[in-house]
Amino acid sequence: MPLVLRNQPESSLRIFRDLEELARGAADHFCALAGRTTAMQGSFTVALAGGNTPRKCYRLLAQAPWKDRVEWSRVHIFWGDERCVPPDHPESNYSMAMREWLSHVELPGENIHRMPGEFPDREEAARTYEESLRAFFRHQGREWPQFDLVLLGMGEDGHVASLFPGSAALADNRRWVVPVKAPKPPRERLTLTLNVLNGAACITFLVSGQEKAGMLQRVLEAGKEKDPLPATLVCPRRGSLVWMIDQPASAKLRVGGKAT
Ligand code: 6PG
Repeated sequence: MPLVLRNQPESSLRIFRDLEELARGAADHFCALAGRTTAMQGSFTVALAGGNTPRKCYRLLAQAPWKDRVEWSRVHIFWGDERCVPPDHPESNYSMAMREWLSHVELPGENIHRMPGEFPDREEAARTYEESLRAFFRHQGREWPQFDLVLLGMGEDGHVASLFPGSAALADNRRWVVPVKAPKPPRERLTLTLNVLNGAACITFLVSGQEKAGMLQRVLEAGKEKDPLPATLVCPRRGSLVWMIDQPASAKLRVGGKAT
């Protein structure tokens, strides 16, 4: 039974034994949400996280039984952020998702909406992706982006997508996509802004590993901070917030590391 987080009634915390169990839980969560949403509205839009944590979940979604539970022709894939590298670069979030998952399922090419990280002009890359988002959601009759699901990881510094602590991008409530400089390589990146992330119907964090335990305790259990961390600023305006973490990452939480 997921724990409900204080002060966020539409939120839940699920603790898994390890990364393998977390990946299975996340794959089940994706399939269940995709099934419900597709049945209700005929499509399912998701913005993917990059980094390493989601890799195992993506790999499971490319395998039975998970891949047989989704009507892929109705799924639209976007990215929450991307490194400014070519799409076949080993550091590309697009390249990782394609390799582990998307190239193994019957997803029409036009349903894959890649962030153009390779554009030499980062501002133009951000504008181009924002225009594609506006066109897509306008076609769905929405002036504002509302992803059905946003998957996020969390860095040890509390960053989400490529929104890092202290970044001016955290206060940008006009643009949907912005170029940023990350404090760690690859430094040049594109990222959705908080306004877009928080418009999602469901935001799901996937967090694994003991090295995240301290930051997770600060984000989930500390009081208000003068400069809130990016992960703390993730709060869906009308949607649900689901934290899926493993026991090592939960080690410093007062709720204790009970596996679900
Ligand atoms: C990226 C991700 C980033 C990631 C966190 C956690 O482009 O790297 O979008 O926000 O989710 O850095 O990364 P790990 O899952 O590898 O710890």
